[in-house]
Amino acid sequence: MADHQRLIVGLSGASGIVYGIRMLEAVRDLGIESDLIMTDMAGKMIGIETAWNEDDVIRLASRCHDSFDFTSPLASGGYNSLGMVVIPCSMKTIAGIATGFADNLLLRAADCTLKERRPLVLVPRETPLNTIQLRNMYHLSQAGVTILPAAPGFYHRPEKIDDLVDHIVGKALDIFGIEHHLYRRWNG
Ligand SMILES: Cc1cc2nc3c(=O)[nH]c(=O)nc-3n(C[C@H](O)[C@H](O)[C@H](O)COP(=O)(O)O)c2cc1C
Repeated sequence: MADHQRLIVGLSGASGIVYGIRMLEAVRDLGIESDLIMTDMAGKMIGIETAWNEDDVIRLASRCHDSFDFTSPLASGGYNSLGMVVIPCSMKTIAGIATGFADNLLLRAADCTLKERRPLVLVPRETPLNTIQLRNMYHLSQAGVTILPAAPGFYHRPEKIDDLVDHIVGKALDIFGIEHHLYRRWNG
């Protein structure tokens, strides 16, 4: 694992904002620093989909960066980190990363993560998917991005929504080699 125990966590305005909130909690509980970038729509989704308020979500992170502050250290590839996860990841943000159209800090940080060849994990949430969305994800996968759909498994016998959420958060942490006990692994 890299020396710098900090993860960039992007929250975008797809449904399933609870995945992003849980990611921030899990990273904090594992003693890893988080750099949060939240798009405007992600902020709105917190109010639409959960009982959380935005400030409390922000407080889960080690640092929160204004999503339009291009003078942020996260706008440079020189910012060392374990990599970046965007959870949940909207189709608009997928399109922005796939085309290099970095008109907010989340997109720019993803761009930098890619150019420095650090792990980039995107957790898309949309269904059904159109051809343009599938093509964007195909191109991202070819560029080395991990596409990890918000599609939890059921083989671990989930009993509550939290179990489903933890499965996806745990799968994302697996990509960074971060050890956790968020879900029970299948042992046959
Ligand atoms: C209630 C609601 C649910 C949404 N769910 C999704 C979704 O699951 N996936 C998605 O790609 N966009 C979804 N959107 C649309 C995005 O919020 C919209 O495309 C926005 O521009 C995304 O911006 P961002 O990626 O900068 O956060 C939803 C919007 C609303 C209001």
